[in-house]
Amino acid sequence: MDVRWERVGERAVLTDEGRLKATARGWHLLVVQMAGEAGDAAVFAVENRCSHATARLDGGEIDGCHIVCPLHGARFDIRDGTCAGPPASQPIRSFPARINGEDVEVAVPEKPPMAKPKFGVFN
Ligand code: FES
Repeated sequence: MDVRWERVGERAVLTDEGRLKATARGWHLLVVQMAGEAGDAAVFAVENRCSHATARLDGGEIDGCHIVCPLHGARFDIRDGTCAGPPASQPIRSFPARINGEDVEVAVPEKPPMAKPKFGVFN
């Protein structure tokens, strides 16, 4: 799979706001900075889309290592995308993230094209 590191924003914005939304290679991303296990800052990236009804997650409350979907309240672990609370039951995609100098970078594959609908007016 063709995965590559993409610059998605400035470190200063992430440090100031604790989160950063971005797009890279067709993915809508949410990057979050949290305290790591050693007390240092760690950076994580997930797809900015709830697995329940595809709401964007960037406006959701961050509660510990979880982000809470602002639409119906599903919870996801920001570190790996695991679903941690209903009504969602599926995880969200997570991506490797890092700070590189003054840049925030996320390793993303090329997003596969959306499948055409089988029926309807978009053929
Ligand atoms: S869209 Fe996120 S919980 Fe429903």
